[in-house]
Amino acid sequence: MYKPVSRMRRLIPVLKQDGVDTDLIMLVRTILAASKEIAFRVSQGELAGILGSTLNENIQGEVQKKLDVLANQLIKEMLLDDESVRAIASEEEEHVVAGHSTGRYIVAFDPLDGSSNIDVNGQIGTIFTVYPAREDVAYDSCQQFHQPGINQLCAGYILYGPSSLLVLSTGGPTRCYTLDLTHGGYLLTKAQMNVPRDSCEFAINMANYRHWSRVTQAYFDQVLYASERFRHSSVRWNAAMVGDVHRVLSRGGIFLYPEDARLGNETGKLRLLYEANPLSLLIEKAGGKATSSGRRTLEIMPKDLHQRVPVVLGSVGPVDDFNSAVFSA
Ligand code: AHG
Ligand code: MN
Ligand code: MN
Ligand code: MN
Repeated sequence: MYKPVSRMRRLIPVLKQDGVDTDLIMLVRTILAASKEIAFRVSQGELAGILGSTLNENIQGEVQKKLDVLANQLIKEMLLDDESVRAIASEEEEHVVAGHSTGRYIVAFDPLDGSSNIDVNGQIGTIFTVYPAREDVAYDSCQQFHQPGINQLCAGYILYGPSSLLVLSTGGPTRCYTLDLTHGGYLLTKAQMNVPRDSCEFAINMANYRHWSRVTQAYFDQVLYASERFRHSSVRWNAAMVGDVHRVLSRGGIFLYPEDARLGNETGKLRLLYEANPLSLLIEKAGGKATSSGRRTLEIMPKDLHQRVPVVLGSVGPVDDFNSAVFSA
């Protein structure tokens, strides 16, 4: 049933009611201001000249798309204007970028997730996370970010899809807001996202089978050919973590980017700091489970800004089933 947008709850009053610190609310507003500009440019597509690649590579060896660079620049510059920001880390920046030495927060972000979808008008997003700044290390050192994911004060993503959505937790429930194009604000559309406990939907790039460990291959041999209990399973892969995880948050399922021989057998493709950790917090705060090599992802102590980890997260039932088959074997 249609409800006038003027009667829906806006983001800031919800955060105030949740008791979120005023500085943190202002910081979230800063990130969202950048996201609105990205959302607008994305909606203009080719008309905004944002499609296609640059001639540069990022520190991970990926060719940067024009939109990776633009989104990074927008978010970075807006964050650096905010005095509460002590340091920032981004997928598209090799090193930590220094902010204000007295700032209370550090911010990590993936400015544009799902870059391979940009040119095909597919789902893309922005992922961000905020931690308390450390007082025991230099304000602009990468050690600022050597904190486990359980320390996150706030994590969220913006999904630029048919509508633009913000999914956010400030330590409480995972809430979903929709960007209202009539007034330009994020309005609360789901006060609490709940990941169903069981589901038969797998989000995995099956073409990577040859690069997985033998035990992961054996598990998927059961899913695809052998075990009757997987008879009703399906596979969905958007190639944008935000899109796949949003589906898991909305209707359950399991998302996997397991260890991969191309990356050194013990690690996966996704980055701990600005991909795995924020999405793991959102999954946990929606009643799901988020793991890496059978361990709780949020307890991993990062060693490097761009560290990669295997990722298995989603509905509790299938995550437990996968981990007990693969890591208790
Ligand atoms: P990014 O575009 O920020 O580099 O991240 C892409 C990631 C993630 O979003 C997605 O789940 C995965 O890469 C897709 O990888 P494959 O192309 O190997 O399927
Ligand atoms: Mn990338
Ligand atoms: Mn990404
Ligand atoms: Mn990215």
